[in-house]
Amino acid sequence: MSDLTPASSAAPSLTQAHRVDSAMTLVGRVDDVPLGEGREVIADGRRIALFHTPTAWYAIDAICPHRGGPLADGIVCDHIVICPLHDRHFDLATGAASGGEPVMIHPVAIRDGDHIYVSPPANTPGSRDAHS
Ligand code: FES
Repeated sequence: MSDLTPASSAAPSLTQAHRVDSAMTLVGRVDDVPLGEGREVIADGRRIALFHTPTAWYAIDAICPHRGGPLADGIVCDHIVICPLHDRHFDLATGAASGGEPVMIHPVAIRDGDHIYVSPPANTPGSRDAHS
């Protein structure tokens, strides 16, 4: 993973989450996550994998429930991330897994032009069907 440099000295880095209201936490800027990639952030003490896809931003719990793989380092294709350790597929929109335990998803919002916010978990993992 590359070093992340904020766009300005006032910008938060992806490791410096800032809570701005009761629901969402500022975790970085749009430029921190290149299109088609993921980055791990910390929000409220929780490790979250944030993904920038051509169609949407997604956030899921960062640790693969299989054996702890770093999901932010996985390959992203459409709305699917592939765990880099044993190739399980996780739907970024639902948290559903191709086999085994799903992951929690988190709402993502872009505010003030380029600030990325995430919320606490939005679902019971895998509560909706995965897209395939
Ligand atoms: S640790 Fe992710 S599939 Fe095994």
